[in-house]
Amino acid sequence: MTIKPLKNISGAFDLPGDKSITHRAIMLNAIAEGEAKVYNALLGEDCMATIECMRKLGAKIFIESDYITVAGAKKIKNSQELFVGNSGTTIRLLTGLLCGAGVNAELDGDDSIKKRPMSRIIEPLSMMGAKITALEGGFAPLKIKSANLKGIEYKMPVASAQVKSCLLLAGLFADSPTTIIEPVKTRNHTELMLAAMSADIITRRNKVIISKSKLKSIDVYVPGDISSAAYLMVLATILPNSYIVLKNVGVNPTRTGLLDILKICGAKITMLNRRTTSEEPVSDMLIQSTDDIKPFVIGGDLIPRLIDEIPILAVLACFANGQSIIKDAQELKVKESNRIDTTVNMLKKMGARIEATDDGMIINGSGALMGGVEIDAGLDHRLAMSAAVAGAVSLDGVKIKNAQIADVSYPGFFKIFERGEQ
Ligand code: S3P
Repeated sequence: MTIKPLKNISGAFDLPGDKSITHRAIMLNAIAEGEAKVYNALLGEDCMATIECMRKLGAKIFIESDYITVAGAKKIKNSQELFVGNSGTTIRLLTGLLCGAGVNAELDGDDSIKKRPMSRIIEPLSMMGAKITALEGGFAPLKIKSANLKGIEYKMPVASAQVKSCLLLAGLFADSPTTIIEPVKTRNHTELMLAAMSADIITRRNKVIISKSKLKSIDVYVPGDISSAAYLMVLATILPNSYIVLKNVGVNPTRTGLLDILKICGAKITMLNRRTTSEEPVSDMLIQSTDDIKPFVIGGDLIPRLIDEIPILAVLACFANGQSIIKDAQELKVKESNRIDTTVNMLKKMGARIEATDDGMIINGSGALMGGVEIDAGLDHRLAMSAAVAGAVSLDGVKIKNAQIADVSYPGFFKIFERGEQ
């Protein structure tokens, strides 16, 4: 895939549905009583993996033109062939669900999934009584043997919505209540959806308590994914004379760290028509280019609120008029790639003054990127999309190897660049 430099970008853009919310809408409705419609579901590869897994486990899922229907499984089946592809959310949430449901199952994924740490879910699930075996060091494939679970009180050592959600799904089936305490509040889509589906769940700041519950299916209107909107927002902010409209963007406060940082940078964003859809806050947005981009510091409690946006924010930092610092972001090392290394190597190759640190990166903005190189996105969709934006705002463009990995979260992503002025 070749991305040529763009002069500007304008117009209204449709966003794909939120990936995190789509996974949850499918998984939870697949174990609920009744049948539900999910509107604006993301049908990228990650969520398709969730759909395939839930079908194997007994749910009836049909993809129609405007929505998908999910009819809950009467009984969750054993399955030795659950393939999650590239999706960390699928493997971690599903493992919690399957341990709770007391079935025998086996989960595996692609080469990126096989490198991602699963001990963070295996340890607390084992404390609940689950029987899971993994490869040495806690890596997929995971084998689950039927067992009865009891509730625990668990202080999570890492801030991870996937770990929290995994334990909430296991806790739905456990004989006694499960209490989960997060070091920093992470995205709360699971809690919101479980409450709407009549689960016995209480949330107080960083603490969630869940007790055994039967779920009732609900229709879900999935908002546009702010993590996908991020690429367009950064592109329009950097390219002069740009003006874009994004409709129906999810703005759950546990996900809007990006907006906080864009504000600090001086980005011109107008929020319009704020409303709530399926328990989730949403808004339309207008974004205009900014000629004076200010540097920023990201760290601490902000990290989980923008964890997936760090690669694209690093691209933005190259255009700031000073030094930006990203710290406390060790979790980037265990994403679809080691995103500290892959982001820094990508931008260095494109001419940025950027250095990796133990827990993030330091970027000396120079207002430009050279480009004119090839970047291998490997198995990391966010790296592919960040490389494309970096290429479009660079002097010489970029070639992207393995660009099709963007389909994991944003089918049709590269069409954006056909709409810009070259
Ligand atoms: C997600 C949680 C985050 C995020 C991922 C999606 C989710 O992962 O990076 O893209 O849907 O719960 P962690 O839980 O590993 O932080």
